[in-house]
Amino acid sequence: MSKLKLGVILGGMSSEHDVSITSGTSVIKKLDKEKYEIYPIYIDKQGNWYEYTKNLDEIEVLEVGRQIEEKREITNVIEYLQECDVIFPVLHGLYGEDGTIQGFLELLKKPYVGCKVLGSSIGMDKVYTKVIFDRANINQAKYLYIKKTEQGYIYIDKEFNEYSYSLNDIAEIVKKELGYPVYVKPSNSGSSVGINKAHNEEELEEAVEFASKYDRKILIEEEIKGREVECAVLGNEEVEATCIGEILPAEEFYTFDAKYKNSESRVIIPAEISENISEEIRRNAIKAFKAIDGKGLSRVDFFIEHETNRVIINEINTMPGFTQISMYPKLWEQMGVSYTELLDRLIELATIC
Ligand SMILES: Nc1ncnc2c1ncn2[C@@H]1O[C@H](COP(=O)(O)OP(=O)(O)O)[C@@H](O)[C@H]1O
Ligand SMILES: [Mg+2]
Repeated sequence: MSKLKLGVILGGMSSEHDVSITSGTSVIKKLDKEKYEIYPIYIDKQGNWYEYTKNLDEIEVLEVGRQIEEKREITNVIEYLQECDVIFPVLHGLYGEDGTIQGFLELLKKPYVGCKVLGSSIGMDKVYTKVIFDRANINQAKYLYIKKTEQGYIYIDKEFNEYSYSLNDIAEIVKKELGYPVYVKPSNSGSSVGINKAHNEEELEEAVEFASKYDRKILIEEEIKGREVECAVLGNEEVEATCIGEILPAEEFYTFDAKYKNSESRVIIPAEISENISEEIRRNAIKAFKAIDGKGLSRVDFFIEHETNRVIINEINTMPGFTQISMYPKLWEQMGVSYTELLDRLIELATIC
């Protein structure tokens, strides 16, 4: 049987470029070389495309921060991609997880792993994720939506009416509607980049200015005091969900450093929670995945509120971290699906509707 030609794309133009290198090299290393002829593709931060020319058997998982050295520029990207049967874009964040590369692959009529254009773009945009989760009636943190424009800030209400406000006014609304502390997030962030916790009005103004460097659209959320748990889903129409994993961040919240640099951050699989709560999380994970029009895979993140035990959704990641110690593959491993087998299933799901 001839091997399936699989393009694996890593790097990319987002703030999660380095994380993608780690995820992508991990995927390449673990793919079954008997089944796949691998085309490793690297996109640099500027958006230039390269073949990753390192000998496939010698590719090791590169830690976050290590760069791709052995590379040769791809002069005709479309022609190169046309050679492949299936593409696995192991890209996180903008231009990778937000529907743009998915749209490009749709135009080329290439099957690819993961969510399609709509699911990817909703999942990447925290404001629109919230809108969809509201519609699906899934518990979530209260929030406000503001936008930065040339003239200043606009506050956007639940019916999308727009009001020009000063940062001072916004700080007042936050106090009244949400109460401090709050989390301030660029709508399109990932890996906690651009996110800050604001404990008072002064910090809010700083956090909003900071978030606005990453996106015009900004989400401000009430704080949920709770345990952080995650659930992995897999499938197209028939969707399966795993057991639950818990995160114990080593810092005040799960920041970029806590995720990738602080080895004190820990995950517990399976989380020590009741079967009822696990089931509720699994049900909501599948519901959220369907609500955003998900396909293939997602990792869905929740809080379990300390005082009430309420399950509250935080976000959905349509291309979650994919190193061997990342939560997504770890959860499947706990379910008896090895990392290599998981990759096989994802690639198979890419080729069917
Ligand atoms: N509303 C909230 N209440 C409490 N903690 C939060 C809230 N929102 C975010 N956090 C903390 O910030 C981290 C990053 O936020 P998240 O929305 O998951 O962004 P990202 O997409 O960058 O992972 C979360 O893992 C959690 O630790
Ligand atoms: Mg998160």
